[in-house]
Amino acid sequence: MDSFLERYGPWAVVAGASEGIGASFSRKLAARGLNLVLVARRADPLQKLAAELRSEHEVEAHVLSLDLGSADAVAGMSAATETLDVGLMVYNAAFSPIGTFLEIEVQEHLKAVDVNVLGPLRMTHYFGRRLVRRGRGGIILMSSMSGLQGTAMVANYAATKAYDAILAEGLWYELGQQGVDVLGCLAGATLTPSYQSSTDRIPSKGLARPMQPDEVTEQALRDLGKKPTGVSGRRNRAAYVLLSRLLPRRGAISMVSKETERMYR
Ligand SMILES: NC(=O)c1ccc[n+]([C@@H]2O[C@H](COP(=O)([O-])OP(=O)(O)OC[C@H]3O[C@@H](n4cnc5c(N)ncnc54)[C@H](OP(=O)(O)O)[C@@H]3O)[C@@H](O)[C@H]2O)c1
Repeated sequence: MDSFLERYGPWAVVAGASEGIGASFSRKLAARGLNLVLVARRADPLQKLAAELRSEHEVEAHVLSLDLGSADAVAGMSAATETLDVGLMVYNAAFSPIGTFLEIEVQEHLKAVDVNVLGPLRMTHYFGRRLVRRGRGGIILMSSMSGLQGTAMVANYAATKAYDAILAEGLWYELGQQGVDVLGCLAGATLTPSYQSSTDRIPSKGLARPMQPDEVTEQALRDLGKKPTGVSGRRNRAAYVLLSRLLPRRGAISMVSKETERMYR
């Protein structure tokens, strides 16, 4: 635990911290002794989480309410964190419109690109420079199993998640040589508020059965510094091998698309 704090502390920024996987990352980092900057749009849940982290883990916790998809998010982030010794940035926020590509308005697709592509690009560039200057630290980019191949009903979202995973891989190599660990975390279905509100057909068995947020984040924190890409959970690791190595591309696309249609059509 102490070496984690030394390498990635004393401050961590969690972008998209107020619920689900982001709140779980925040709790696990506080349990490891890191102070937190909790970022999301809604201030209330962030304030509640900050109070919990202060009282349960005796760490400092700051709250920053901003839209990570906006062009001036870095300016807000910089103003709020420039005096803090940040050693870890987790980019977790996402926007995931669900439906066929054409029935979703193009503005929604563009918003997904803002939050899932331009947001991580801007934040990773900003914190990447800071972390390289101090010679150590880490960056985690949340991606998804849906980014492994094209996926019907979430075609644009899946493409944004492929961007996050591939960006993490290149930076794992590039920044890794300068002391900064980068991890792309491929989560499968995870029981978060946003996942639960997206469907009333949550699978109770099979490869798509959802995991708990704490399982995903614990695995990611263990994978950081060890590999470019972490896949959460045994079922997802089996699916990863099947989808990326065993099945022909067409088979992988059809398999995942059928499963996604079953949930969302
Ligand atoms: N849940 C799953 O099944 C699943 C599966 C695979 C991958 N993932 C990935 O895991 C990550 C987390 O997923 P999740 O299900 O926990 O929730 P999510 O709905 O993707 O993100 C929730 C968090 O991000 C914040 N957020 C969203 N848009 C924001 C914006 N524009 N600006 C600032 N904050 C924003 C939300 O707070 P506010 O609403 O207050 O802003 C909340 O704290 C995502 O990157 C997702 O792609 C999830």
